[in-house]
Amino acid sequence: MPGPDAAFWQRRFESGDTPWDRGGPGPQLLAWLDAGALKPCRIAVPGCGSGWDVVELARRGFDVQGIDLVPAACARAMAALQAAGMAGSVVQADALLYRPAHAFDAVYEQTCLCAIHPTLWSQYEASLHAWLKPGGRLYAMFMQCWGPGEQARPEGPPYHCDLAAMRVLFDDSRWLWPDAPALQVPHPRGWHELGLILERR
Ligand SMILES: C[S@@+](CC[C@H](N)C(=O)[O-])C[C@H]1O[C@@H](n2cnc3c(N)ncnc32)[C@H](O)[C@@H]1O
Repeated sequence: MPGPDAAFWQRRFESGDTPWDRGGPGPQLLAWLDAGALKPCRIAVPGCGSGWDVVELARRGFDVQGIDLVPAACARAMAALQAAGMAGSVVQADALLYRPAHAFDAVYEQTCLCAIHPTLWSQYEASLHAWLKPGGRLYAMFMQCWGPGEQARPEGPPYHCDLAAMRVLFDDSRWLWPDAPALQVPHPRGWHELGLILERR
């Protein structure tokens, strides 16, 4: 597997080296929820990490499923659900290979794509497309990360999710892109994310 493997992510959680973790749900997720742009439905959160977004969605009445590659993240997410007294499920699986028994209405993609080596991105796109019903929505936060001289960082994770590359990856023939520009949201690591809602065709 090119790029970070399960052992890499497991070590990061075990050692508490999780600088991406906001310690709460993503601000753009809250904004979409508060604006009614995301309403209770069956939703997946790939690369759910500590599970803050999973808990928030459960709290708001969603049938939510977190998915993460490593046991340490799944344990954290399950513990967070239990501590909040919320129902919801967490599945330990590789998002590149996982296929749910029932399709999802929505996917909240919060820095899972940028955690995966770019040579595997087309597999990730294929998974999200397969998980969603036609007309289902992908709530995507595309990580924008820069190195010295404001050049996209070649190394990762996180891998820079350039918007032009996202237009190729999430091709118009398979995804309907919004007319509105992407929303820029600061990230704890000092970069920012671009928030967009795509519709699976
Ligand atoms: C940068 S962290 C983001 C965690 C969480 N979404 C957040 O924002 O706090 C990336 C997460 O993706 C998970 N991950 C990496 N590759 C994955 C894969 N192929 N399938 C599922 N999860 C993966 C990691 O274990 C980690 O929890």
